[in-house]
Amino acid sequence: MIIVIDGPAGSGKSSTARAIADKLDIEYLDSGALYRTATLIYLEANRDKEAFFILLNQKKISFYYEDQKFHVAIDGESVTDKIRTTEVTKAVSEVAALPRVRSFVNNLMRDVVLEGVYVAEGRDLGTAVFPDAELKFFMSADLEERAKRRLKERKEKNPGLSLKEVKQNIAERDLKDSKRQADPLKKAADAIELDTTNLTFEQQVDKICSMISEELK
Ligand code: DC
Repeated sequence: MIIVIDGPAGSGKSSTARAIADKLDIEYLDSGALYRTATLIYLEANRDKEAFFILLNQKKISFYYEDQKFHVAIDGESVTDKIRTTEVTKAVSEVAALPRVRSFVNNLMRDVVLEGVYVAEGRDLGTAVFPDAELKFFMSADLEERAKRRLKERKEKNPGLSLKEVKQNIAERDLKDSKRQADPLKKAADAIELDTTNLTFEQQVDKICSMISEELK
């Protein structure tokens, strides 16, 4: 069984999905982390697309959720922190726009959800990856609010980061993610929309959890 949460950067999908997985004791899948992992390999290939696709097919990507963290490894070596650097964040939309990368990541995800109950989050899960998902949510929030949340999250590791910079980065990514040809960020027609601008974290988690619990009955 699969429940999907899509939405723009900083809308709270990832923290909400993790809280839901913990509360309902189900698995969590972070599709953005897999695009970030592909991006790390792209940077290792010095942005040479041919070399990149060869490397992508050679490397073994593994992942699991534990202790509130989505862990990713390439050939057994953890890249959980490396995929969150500014360099990766800046390049990820470009890599995620490549159709071959999208089908690579989609296959990884479709294989893993064959067994168990999953809550997965991303941009196109309800439209392109899991169109038959049992429940679909689309989370949104004002750009200003999303930037504030992201800054709070990143400030500790990157004290020099400013709200303006985060806002600009999110706005650029939103634009690229929703305008790209291959599976753009889009609300599925049958997704439940949740604007979280004025909701507390607990409220948004509770709302989604109660709908999932109904479905699981
Ligand atoms: O959720 P995130 O910020 O970690 O996602 C990183 C990037 O990956 C995001 O800018 C767009 C891309 N992405 C995507 O294209 N499709 C998804 N299902 C998830 C993420």
